[in-house]
Amino acid sequence: MHGRTHRRNNFDHRKDLIQNRNTTFAKKLLAKQKTVFYCQNCGAESPKWVGKCPACGEWNTYLEEVVSPSSAVPAWATSKGKSGNAPTLLNEITAEKHKRESSGDEELDRVLGGGIVPGSLILIGGEPGIGKSTLLLQLAIRLKEQKVLYVSGEESPQQIKLRADRLGIVATSCYLLSETSLDDIFNHVAELGPNLLVIDSIQTLHTSKLEAAPGSITQVRECTGQLMQYAKQNNVPVFLIGHINKEGNIAGPKVLEHMVDTVLQFEGDRNMTYRILRTIKNRFGSTSELGIYKMQGDGLEEVKNPSEMLLSEQSEGTSGVAIGASMEGNRPLLIEVQALVSPATFGTPQRSATGFDIKRLHMLLAVLEKRMGIRLSTQDVFLNITGGIKVNDTSLDLAVCAAVYSSFHDLEMLENTCVIGEVGLGGELRRVNRLENRVAEAQKLGFENAIIPSGPEKLKVGSLKIKEGKLVKEAFGFLFK
Ligand code: TYD
Ligand code: MG
Repeated sequence: MHGRTHRRNNFDHRKDLIQNRNTTFAKKLLAKQKTVFYCQNCGAESPKWVGKCPACGEWNTYLEEVVSPSSAVPAWATSKGKSGNAPTLLNEITAEKHKRESSGDEELDRVLGGGIVPGSLILIGGEPGIGKSTLLLQLAIRLKEQKVLYVSGEESPQQIKLRADRLGIVATSCYLLSETSLDDIFNHVAELGPNLLVIDSIQTLHTSKLEAAPGSITQVRECTGQLMQYAKQNNVPVFLIGHINKEGNIAGPKVLEHMVDTVLQFEGDRNMTYRILRTIKNRFGSTSELGIYKMQGDGLEEVKNPSEMLLSEQSEGTSGVAIGASMEGNRPLLIEVQALVSPATFGTPQRSATGFDIKRLHMLLAVLEKRMGIRLSTQDVFLNITGGIKVNDTSLDLAVCAAVYSSFHDLEMLENTCVIGEVGLGGELRRVNRLENRVAEAQKLGFENAIIPSGPEKLKVGSLKIKEGKLVKEAFGFLFK
């Protein structure tokens, strides 16, 4: 008896369920929501969760994100003739050259390739606290004739006002908005009609179109896409701030970098005052440009003559310091290289390099050991590029070798000398590109001597005494008495 009622109840329950299927609620439950797992580090996708990303090797980076189902019929099959933009013959297009607006900041103009291109989307990445918000707020305030909207998803208008007060410039046409919903931002933008839009940080935005959390790959991608469309259609430049992850890449998708027109990286040591703004990608200019700033109590100050700033602390008459010339973009930059060589106390000697490639240092030490006959295998070697600058230029090889050699023997170098040249494995010196520009920079800054690799024709720059050598040995002959 009991068993039968139970079975009957069960049967009723199933019948109910089947009936319920027809209600919209059940339909919703049954309709499959398509979800995909994305690696939050590199953007790789996978149909199911994985612990370790097979693409980038990071652990625990996969997050589930809902993707809206795409319609099964391709767009071309349903298209009904012309609409939107029509194809135009290339030679019939009247190209008004990219008009550029000055940002009122020479360094920023330079890295952008000569100013802000209307309708461009510019992404600025950098570590927390490096000064991204300060840089863009400064830009927003300085553009007095332009209506600028500064949108922050991180700080309240009061906090931004406090920062603006520190900068000490009176803002007359800069609007602030604290908002994270992109839809609301666009509502305000439509009302205000700004000439320039700043988004402090793309990772805080979200659009109601997607259910994913702010900062997730799909949200960041979608919001960037919408901002891109806005910029292009309204010819309004848009600046985006992007956070960077622990590897130093702009957090989230690499695809973000492909979507925007320009990617700038703000670098430097947070504890040092110098900041470097570097172009990583630029559809409207060269990528090898560099802007240098100094973080002051009242904002970022442009550094007009970087070589001078890097050499200001030059200590004369000490061993282990050499001046080299590196090219940063189109600008020669005189750089101070310091080395300290001291007997190693434990088995394996230490090698450490700040601002210089450690592998390259290892190679140069091997060359010095083999070709100059100094025993470095029992010595710790520390190398430092002063000013918190990172260089990636082989022209500094000779300066590195000179600094190490000088420190090892505790020898003083020829005063007021700039050393430039790439060092080969045989201890030979090789010329580097734009040698003349580099030497000219040294002359401009009051150097008296330059030691460079010998080449087909002799170099003459002003009154500078230039010595040319084929080998490191020869160069050291000039340098050390
Ligand atoms: P911020 O622009 O907030 O960095 P980000 O947006 O990249 O995270 O910069 C913050 C740092 O800059 C903070 O440590 C304080 C310093 N700062 C100054 O030294 N001077 C100033 O005038 C301002 C506004 C900030
Ligand atoms: Mg900030």
